[in-house]
Amino acid sequence: MRIGPTQLSSNLFLSPLAGYTNLPFRLTLRELGGLGWVTTDLVNARSLIERNPTALKLVASCAEDRPMAIQLFGSVPEEMRDAARICEDLGAQSVDINMGCPVKKVVKIGGGSAMMTELEKPPPSCAA
Ligand SMILES: Cc1cc2nc3c(=O)[nH]c(=O)nc-3n(C[C@H](O)[C@H](O)[C@H](O)COP(=O)(O)O)c2cc1C
Repeated sequence: MRIGPTQLSSNLFLSPLAGYTNLPFRLTLRELGGLGWVTTDLVNARSLIERNPTALKLVASCAEDRPMAIQLFGSVPEEMRDAARICEDLGAQSVDINMGCPVKKVVKIGGGSAMMTELEKPPPSCAA
């Protein structure tokens, strides 16, 4: 299986699990073998841009933790873009956008499942 230019060693993916899929957990599962792809916990895009220590801990990774995706949440396109660039600099093979989380801290900023309630929201370049 392949995602973009990344050839995966298997088709087994570790889903993002907030509170669980941190670096030690991911490395432990990799050691057990068979894992083809991992995703981090969801990370607030703005917090990542602001280099918030909690956000930086959530995206902590290392060379043995590849290939991996970082999952972002947020609703401001420019922030999502800038955070995605940081993810790329951190070595992520992919950026995953959370569009399903229903928890308050996510939906109150328009992220997660709240995104699905605003399908007509225009990108900033089209906004009046
Ligand atoms: C405790 C917990 C935390 C989760 N955190 C996230 C998350 O941060 N991002 C996400 O996209 N999904 C999250 N999920 C959803 C899981 O990744 C997964 O899609 C869901 O549990 C369904 O998987 P299953 O069909 O194997 O049960 C979470 C689920 C659980 C139970």
